[in-house]
Amino acid sequence: MRTIDLINKKKSGKPLSADEISFIIDGFTNGIIPDYQMSALLMAICFKGMNPRETAELTLKIAHSGELVRLPSIGGIKVDKHSTGGVGDKTTLIISPIVAACGVSVAKMSGRGLGHTGGTIDKLGAIPGFKTALNREEFGEIVKGVGVCITSASENIAPADKKLYALRDVTGTVDSMPLIAASIMSKKIASPSDAVLLDVKTGKGAFMTSLGEAVELAKIMVDIGEFAGKKTNALITNMDIPLGESIGNTLEIIESVEVLKGRGDADLASVCKLLAAHMLLLADKGSLEECVKLVEEALKSGRALAKFMEMVEAQGGKLDFNNFDNLPKASIIHKIKSPRTGYICEMDALSAGIASSVLGAGREREDSEIDYGAGIWLHKKYGDYVEEGELLATFYTSDNSKIEAAAEKFMEAIKFDSTKPPQIKLIYAFVSKAGVEYL
Ligand code: URA
Repeated sequence: MRTIDLINKKKSGKPLSADEISFIIDGFTNGIIPDYQMSALLMAICFKGMNPRETAELTLKIAHSGELVRLPSIGGIKVDKHSTGGVGDKTTLIISPIVAACGVSVAKMSGRGLGHTGGTIDKLGAIPGFKTALNREEFGEIVKGVGVCITSASENIAPADKKLYALRDVTGTVDSMPLIAASIMSKKIASPSDAVLLDVKTGKGAFMTSLGEAVELAKIMVDIGEFAGKKTNALITNMDIPLGESIGNTLEIIESVEVLKGRGDADLASVCKLLAAHMLLLADKGSLEECVKLVEEALKSGRALAKFMEMVEAQGGKLDFNNFDNLPKASIIHKIKSPRTGYICEMDALSAGIASSVLGAGREREDSEIDYGAGIWLHKKYGDYVEEGELLATFYTSDNSKIEAAAEKFMEAIKFDSTKPPQIKLIYAFVSKAGVEYL
């Protein structure tokens, strides 16, 4: 087999066979197929797509490029959740302890931020001492003892995806449905969970900008998950606007604790409650209504917050939920005032995410250091009325020179109107093997 022939085959729109996909993934992972040929093939996939059989075969091949983590000593249904990537998306930090407090184990392997989107591992990295790189024994022990553990995926989990993702990131080949589906689902297949809830984001700050594309991606991923023997459902959720009030690692830890205390942003809390209830549903904890009640009870009783603190402690983190003074802080605090009076009728999550990244919350390059204290706290959100000169947001950074560019990007995110905009929908649809239900 020759790579050049397979590039030409895909370029002309023909499907690749299972053997051809194996040849490519093995060759690329072992360094035999060079980046330039793989880039050409990835671009051909972006333009010509892959059919469901090819996408499933690609996913399984990537999953089997490394180890499959299994935790047989942990009883019951282990449930995982995966977001396709968003801005201010700290739901994993909130829902994992809620679900564990309801008696369902969460063995979660998470990733770093990608592009303008944040990553759970970066957020947890803001907690002093928190160990995000656990070996398999430590991971299993904490899941067994605490009921929840969040670790980074080791080098051995779907190594082909790590290599592919790094290449896609710099060759304009991220936003391809089969490539995203294979990337996400290969890691879910390698993870120890029995069931998976996918949070497929759609909107300006998501990889899938239209609802139609998000539903299509969700269907592909649900089919792959079920084919691999994992009960898989998806919720399609809004990423037109940032989720919650904070963007940036320390800030998102603080906001997550606030929601776990039963306070915090109402939109964020309601998305988290529904996601957590759907995870419990996958674990057969009752009807959706009953699962929502379990979630509310876990929050109200303080058990969810206590579970979060137990997890932080078990993973070596030092956090006081009443005093965040020990978290990394930005040395510069800059207030952004509203340039005009009116209702905020747009707060583009993409521009807001980029602005936060510019302040230092994200990486510019693969090897960039994160400024954990950097980010944005939003005092006004979509639909709010604001007077000229009123406080819109607070910027946190350690580098004064970044403020101007970040402010310019942030102001691109916001549009004003004299009339109140319609209420935004937070959850659009539920996708399962039975089909799509629009909500
Ligand atoms: N998240 C992933 O893990 N992979 C993608 O391709 C996109 C989002």
